[in-house]
Amino acid sequence: MKIQHNKSLKKYNTFGIEALASHFVEITTIQNLQEVLQQENYPKKIVLSGGSNMLITNDLNALVMHINIKGITIISEDENHVVLKIMAGENWHELVIWTINQDYGGLENLSLIPGNVGTSPIQNIGAYGVELKDSFESCEAIDVATQQLITFSKSDCQFGYRDSIFKNAGKGKYIITSVNLKLNKPPHSPNTSYGAIETELKENKIDHPTIKDVSDAVIAIRQKKLPDPIKLGNSGSFFKNPVITKEKFITFLDNNPDAPFYQISETSYKIPAGWLIEKCGFKGKRFGDAGVHKNQALVLVNYGGASGQELLLLAHKIQDAVLTRFGINIIPEVNIIS
Ligand code: EPU
Repeated sequence: MKIQHNKSLKKYNTFGIEALASHFVEITTIQNLQEVLQQENYPKKIVLSGGSNMLITNDLNALVMHINIKGITIISEDENHVVLKIMAGENWHELVIWTINQDYGGLENLSLIPGNVGTSPIQNIGAYGVELKDSFESCEAIDVATQQLITFSKSDCQFGYRDSIFKNAGKGKYIITSVNLKLNKPPHSPNTSYGAIETELKENKIDHPTIKDVSDAVIAIRQKKLPDPIKLGNSGSFFKNPVITKEKFITFLDNNPDAPFYQISETSYKIPAGWLIEKCGFKGKRFGDAGVHKNQALVLVNYGGASGQELLLLAHKIQDAVLTRFGINIIPEVNIIS
């Protein structure tokens, strides 16, 4: 296990932000991780996984632990299901494609989401009507304080919209090392209820989609709307879609009758933050090398040389504008690292 010094993190974060880690270590086994955590000469330790949901705002005076533990194994299977154990360092989209090639259903709507498997439970990744929690069985994590490997069941994880225990009571306390997912064997009944998927399949004249058809449709939709981090640095949705009370929603809809929304419960409504940001005039705007994507206002982009501070400033400007115009607070979905 080799500790590197003054390591550039540019290729480890999908925003492509240049920042240095004073110390950096590649973790390839659980034992590696336990050993590193026991080292007392690095008081500040930061976990880095796929780097797809983080904004690094300055050089990091810390030991950055890059979790790169690989492997996929079948834990159990019967006629209808298979349970896979996937190690944290596996790339999410490569996993999705692998499951489709095996004809295991359940992850097809989650195609092309950047990042690694180990961080997928933290924000309960979701897209096109499906969330990780729908196929999640359990995960294993190292307790940072004791270095013990512990298991979290689905209910232990307390999944919500872009939310879990790992963002709340468990924040900073655990490092996920593997995830167990329960997937379906054929015959499949893919979830095509999300409007954009239906439209894409119709355009391609597909009436009875296979899981591969759904994955292809999701890939096509994402490629139209969302920038490829390899070509244009970004972190997917920068903000969560805000959820507001019915009372607030009624006034909001009176003032904005054309606004899209989803009813979440009897008393709460979700408003697409992308719509709010677009209405405030930010869509496609550029401030130096920091900008708002032209096809999806929820995505902040780095045109090349933006610093984390510049992107953070832009995020604050957007939050202020949305609050002033709509009285709605939008909260970042990405982790702000300093
Ligand atoms: N909209 C606008 N302007 C925009 C963007 C969106 O008016 O610039 C409107 C759209 O017209 C639509 C509504 O907002 O009526 C919803 O847009 P979209 O279907 O693109 O989804 P979203 O709510 O903006 C969420 C997720 C995405 C996920 C899509 C599809 C969050 C924070 N984001 O975006 O997730 O891919 O739904 O399921 O929930 C991510 O988390 O990184 C991510 C990309």
